[in-house]
Amino acid sequence: MDALLSILYLVASVSFITGLKMLGSPKTARVGNLIAASGMGLAIAGTMFLYKGHDGQPLHNLEWILGALAVGTGIGWVMAMRVQMTAMPQMVSFFNGMGGACAAVISVMEYKAVGAAGMTFGSGLATVAGLVIGSVSFSGSIIAYLKLEGRMNDIRFAGQQFVNNGLLLVALALGGAIVAGVMSDMTMVMVLLAVALVFGILFVLPIGGADMPVVISLLNSFTGVAAACGGFLYDNMVMLIGGILVGSAGTLLTFVMTKAMNRSLANVLFTNFGGDGAGGGSGGGSGGAGGGSVREVSAADVAVMMAYGRQVVIVPGYGLAVAQAQHVCKQLQQELEEKGVTVKYAIHPVAGRMPGHMNVLLAEADVEYDKLVEMEEINPEFATTDVVIVVGANDVVNPAAKTDPTSPIYGMPILDVEDAKNVIVLKRSMKAGYAGIDNELFYRPNCSMLFGDAKASLTNLVNEVKAL
Ligand code: TAP
Repeated sequence: MDALLSILYLVASVSFITGLKMLGSPKTARVGNLIAASGMGLAIAGTMFLYKGHDGQPLHNLEWILGALAVGTGIGWVMAMRVQMTAMPQMVSFFNGMGGACAAVISVMEYKAVGAAGMTFGSGLATVAGLVIGSVSFSGSIIAYLKLEGRMNDIRFAGQQFVNNGLLLVALALGGAIVAGVMSDMTMVMVLLAVALVFGILFVLPIGGADMPVVISLLNSFTGVAAACGGFLYDNMVMLIGGILVGSAGTLLTFVMTKAMNRSLANVLFTNFGGDGAGGGSGGGSGGAGGGSVREVSAADVAVMMAYGRQVVIVPGYGLAVAQAQHVCKQLQQELEEKGVTVKYAIHPVAGRMPGHMNVLLAEADVEYDKLVEMEEINPEFATTDVVIVVGANDVVNPAAKTDPTSPIYGMPILDVEDAKNVIVLKRSMKAGYAGIDNELFYRPNCSMLFGDAKASLTNLVNEVKAL
């Protein structure tokens, strides 16, 4: 039986690694997800029916476990079926919070069952670390969820970092005392739990809503570490491997995001950048910092430009998601292709507000994967592109990232759309994007603005192209 369980755990671990690898491409992501989920199913079933605890006994209370499994599966299923693609970050945050809570509960129960006397230094450390990290991840994720749902604003008060640092120190001191056996009372464990929960709330409260994807990714890595602590406690390899994978993937994603935004993690966590939650400072009027005035263009003129061009590149951004214009964008692509024009999409790694935001949106509209071209690959092509259509993107096409060392986005890699013969920007006004800064692209001689909601403007373009 033990050998069978080890084999099941091995298969499950391999499935996690394979699934994670397959998530790297939109073509394989769906199957990868199913493979990893099946592995998790195997691991759960194996643990329920084959696992033996320290006392050599199989799991007790199977009926309770099965009941909880049924309730959890039901809730998860309904939530996943109902969720809008644009509400994915909230759901990920919510699920991540539940993982953190599980890790914290494991630690509390284990401490209660084994007691201080039964703990080695290692198991005590794993118990306390799982408790603190899991609790922070739980309460922090719930605040992130509420912010992304628009049910909570950023809350800042004087001396906030001081209070946060103070709480962290209290948690470390208490945790250290419990691990060292100086305090072994269950009450102290519950106090530590409360301190960690409050710290998780206060830690996320001041961070700008639009920075939540980075915070969620970071909290996700916390949950992974907390789960790995559980794996260590139970000497359970699959839990340990799963936790380590989640922890490292979350950490890597956090750093990939901050790098693509040209910011440090400290800058995301401790400044109020992008603090209005939806992105968009109000920098720039029609004659803003970019200088000069912008040129407006009609949908009819843009249609002619595109239809008689050889290659059109569409640059989707956050505004595409706001306008929910992905389907009409696909229609424009089809109309142009019927006229013999090559159409590609330029994908910036942090366009929108969550990792893979544009890929998800365009996949929803059944845009073929091979039409989505990553930034490094498409950049050299702009010089030979006739028309670039920027749909609700702003920061990711701002040349200030390359030219203005004083700009907050200086050094962020951007899409070199200004190299194209014609650039048409579809947005509603001259308002800034997430970084809250003016965009000198809009004042360049080869750039024209098509003002309006992206969906309405794209619909006009589709009609005009059809009419040609
Ligand atoms: P942004 O720079 O935020 O610009 C979006 C533009 O869309 C705005 O200027 C807005 O202008 C326009 N817009 C909004 N609603 C619209 C609508 N209904 N129709 C037409 N246009 C609309 O977006 P981006 O270029 O995608 O850049 C993303 C930014 O978010 C980067 O600064 C990035 O660092 C940051 N960020 C990204 C992530 C991830 S992981 N993707 C996470 C956190 C932060 P109007 O108001 O004038 O229409």
